[in-house]
Amino acid sequence: MTDGVASVLESGLQAGVELPSSCRNGTCRECMCRLISGNVRYRIDWPGLSADEKAVGWFLPCVAIARSDLQIEQPLAQAR
Ligand code: FES
Repeated sequence: MTDGVASVLESGLQAGVELPSSCRNGTCRECMCRLISGNVRYRIDWPGLSADEKAVGWFLPCVAIARSDLQIEQPLAQAR
């Protein structure tokens, strides 16, 4: 389910930052992070988030593509 562009999750792994994840297809919500600044688009039409969750900045990095530099919040992230 890729379009040749790295997801935020994949980009983090490439940069040595491991975020929690499981399904990697926008379903399980294991990877949920808060977007502090920046913009993303999604690989899928209906990522598993409610409109209210999106409105306050939650996003799913496994299916999100960065459209700008991002600042995100995920307390369980680990540097590798
Ligand atoms: S890893 Fe399952 S929604 Fe992101």
